[in-house]
Amino acid sequence: TLKEEGTVSYASPSNIALVKYWGKRENQIPANPSISFTLAACVTKTSVQYKKRNQKSNEFSFDLLFEGEAKEEFKPKISTFLKRIETYLPFLKEYHFVINTSNSFPHSSGIASSASGMSALALCFMQMERSFSEFVSDEDFKRKASFLARLGSGSACRSIEGPLVQWGETNSIEGSSNLFGIKYPYAVHNVFNNFHDTILLVDKGEKQVSSTVGHELMYGHPFATQRFDQAHNNLEKLKSVLLEGDLDAFIRVIESEALTLHAMMMTSNPYFILMKPNTLSIINEIWKFREASKTHVCFTLDAGANVHVLYPENEKDVVFPFIKEKLVPFCQNGQYICDRIGLGAKK
Ligand code: PMV
Repeated sequence: TLKEEGTVSYASPSNIALVKYWGKRENQIPANPSISFTLAACVTKTSVQYKKRNQKSNEFSFDLLFEGEAKEEFKPKISTFLKRIETYLPFLKEYHFVINTSNSFPHSSGIASSASGMSALALCFMQMERSFSEFVSDEDFKRKASFLARLGSGSACRSIEGPLVQWGETNSIEGSSNLFGIKYPYAVHNVFNNFHDTILLVDKGEKQVSSTVGHELMYGHPFATQRFDQAHNNLEKLKSVLLEGDLDAFIRVIESEALTLHAMMMTSNPYFILMKPNTLSIINEIWKFREASKTHVCFTLDAGANVHVLYPENEKDVVFPFIKEKLVPFCQNGQYICDRIGLGAKK
């Protein structure tokens, strides 16, 4: 039975891909499989107040508050999302929603909020559905939440659980699916517990090219086939790397993935560059320091200029002072975020 009114809320994290998703087909089906670390500090908190409407309508009805203020410019994205998920949540048009959302990280920091934002909203609607219907297992709940989040933003389907989530069908991973992310199903070495991700905010400006356009440019890309094959191979390679805790091999895979993502951008038609000079300076400093210190600090990149600096907990005392002294000066206004591997969304 449908309730008259109520409120649901969720806090959902961002994630950082180790093997990158870049290229998609119809209905947010990924062109290649990916895997990510779920983050802990970069979180979107969303609450949805719902109230039954008096009349039936063919339009969705909602108000959107971002950090306490009405945000008209975010509404079209939410409308598109609602249209895509309505088939799976047929009650949506029967309600008026007040969606209240805020991020733990500074907005317009260049940190994409689509993964955390879309997964938080998907979870709120799932919670609403759960309050109407018979018992749904946690497993089914998470799977459908991930399925819905994918329809908001592909990478959002990897933000429901943690610490490692895999998305996209591939032979080497049992249970992998194009439709939702799964908790990585194999054993992972302790060294990856509490892994750090210090996010260096190199450039907070609007991206010149959105990830939607970037994905599209993988159609007819001269290296698309090789790239998609490589992603499958890297997932396969990571199996033993993650199991054995082979950090040198880990670094080789994930830094190559980061640079390949940007290489795809630089070799598409039209071509574009999202890295900034400071992105490259940071990468070079990391390489120099890693060589000299014999630590396992490494980097990955998203579709932007910011750098995610990854390192294990037991090297923190050596690596973090290096980050503060040598890398933070390359950040815009000295801004960075200390994050680490996380366990997924929470009510
Ligand atoms: O979820 P989207 O459509 O914004 O795509 C994100 C793609 C990357 O962040 C660049 C890579 C990834 O796998 O998260």
